[in-house]
Amino acid sequence: MKTHTLLIICYLFLGCQNQTDTNATKQAEEKTPATYQEPFRPQFHFSPKSQWMNDPNGLVYENGTYHLFYQYYPEDTVWGPMHWGHASSEDLISWKHHPIALYPDEHGYIFSGSAVIDSENSSGFGKNGSTPIVAVFTYHQMEGEKAGRNDFQTQGIAYSLDHGMSWVKYENNPVISNATAIRDFRDPKVFWHEEDSQWVMVLVAGDHTKFYKSYNLKEWEWMSDFGKTQGAHGGVWECPDLFKLPVQGTDLEKWVLLVSVNPGAPNGGSGTQYFVGDFDGSTFTADSETSNWIDYGRDNYAGVTYNNAPDDQRIFIGWMSNWDYAQTTPTKSWRSAMTLPRALSLHQDTTGYFLRMNPVASFQNYIEMNDTIPMRATQDRLEISMETLGQTAIQLEINLSEEYTFTYQNEKGEAVVFKLLPKQQIMTFDRSHSGRTDFNDSFVKNEQIMPYKAENRWVKAQFIVDRSSLELFIHDGRYVMTNLLFPTETYTEFTVTHTTAAPPKNISVGSIPAIWMP
Ligand code: FRU
Repeated sequence: MKTHTLLIICYLFLGCQNQTDTNATKQAEEKTPATYQEPFRPQFHFSPKSQWMNDPNGLVYENGTYHLFYQYYPEDTVWGPMHWGHASSEDLISWKHHPIALYPDEHGYIFSGSAVIDSENSSGFGKNGSTPIVAVFTYHQMEGEKAGRNDFQTQGIAYSLDHGMSWVKYENNPVISNATAIRDFRDPKVFWHEEDSQWVMVLVAGDHTKFYKSYNLKEWEWMSDFGKTQGAHGGVWECPDLFKLPVQGTDLEKWVLLVSVNPGAPNGGSGTQYFVGDFDGSTFTADSETSNWIDYGRDNYAGVTYNNAPDDQRIFIGWMSNWDYAQTTPTKSWRSAMTLPRALSLHQDTTGYFLRMNPVASFQNYIEMNDTIPMRATQDRLEISMETLGQTAIQLEINLSEEYTFTYQNEKGEAVVFKLLPKQQIMTFDRSHSGRTDFNDSFVKNEQIMPYKAENRWVKAQFIVDRSSLELFIHDGRYVMTNLLFPTETYTEFTVTHTTAAPPKNISVGSIPAIWMP
């Protein structure tokens, strides 16, 4: 056996590192209001000031501002009568809170939906040349549901003439009733279909999507259905989205249909699948009968994309939770956060089309690179120790055909473990000893599994931790896992065990300060 040589590639003096840590922490404290200091509170992901949040809604860009509306219950930290909460941002990372945008009314709670910029004033809501933002959402009539009826979900609209700050509901709501009594009839995503100069709406109806068209956002005509026999049907379909993307490296354009499903995700509970195909203005046709998953982690649900984003970007935000346990996570005055906003791109290889998703470019501006990395390395293991590991982005290059084990760990021995197992062509994620897991039996069911192509290729891997979440983007965002974690102390050690042939290359570590301003 070889003599065990300890190769110290880089070992930083802890004293020096502590200094950097203390400065970063101090800076963060100065900028952060007390309400964002609770344990588990994300520091650079969006979460509501207080109370319950679920799906992102009405994602729309207007005039330099990204709006984020969201399913919100202002009276409790569990789901209840739904409102649309509201926040906005210039760069998708630093958010400002705004007053609640939409309140329940006589037609019901305000469920998920979308928003469009009606620049031609097709709706007629605009006055004196102002451009309306029109929100399209589902009304959920609780009395109807309790009475055992099936027609309690309808679609309504509202408009804003002051850049999303105040809203007027349309007097003739609902704009789509539920005459055929479809029990789960909701989550309209509307977009402008340039080719046919019409508004298109996709919504879900239990086990399929329905497509409608309109010229004024008020009158809608049904066009087609998709999905009864395609894709995953482990549960009810929710929160669809449809958009066109160029296929990178070709002249092709394809349409992508996102559909969330609850339950039925590959690792349990709720998750989001997608189909790649064509849309001719009235009908969506998928290239394959089987769908793909946008994320194999357990905490990325109900995600949809921005309308009207600049430079043809397709920007996605998901709700970073899972209906299996969302209402019981161990936070007190607030509950749930969003994923980092991610840019989507479409690619093709011998296996077909696939999406990549990576944090939006502006996120880079928030990463404060550590010039010297507090790292020790031996032949088959490297270790990074940092007080501030709970708020970092680590990037490195790995070879997909080699075995790796990545671990985040704290001094109490709580640890989360992510592995590449090329022989089985899977990556695994284990949060069974990551910290608090006792709040719900389904938080840890099994080890999570993500299939992948174990090619002999060096690829980029990014690991982003924000106190109570870990987002993994492997192979430039081709393999993605988003997971919540509740360590009772911050993780302070990141280790990689690897084969002697393939130690990770080009390692960079960056700290990310809090975005929340007092
Ligand atoms: C998805 C969802 C939507 C619905 C909303 C209600 O998480 O169930 O289908 O509109 O949440 O809050």
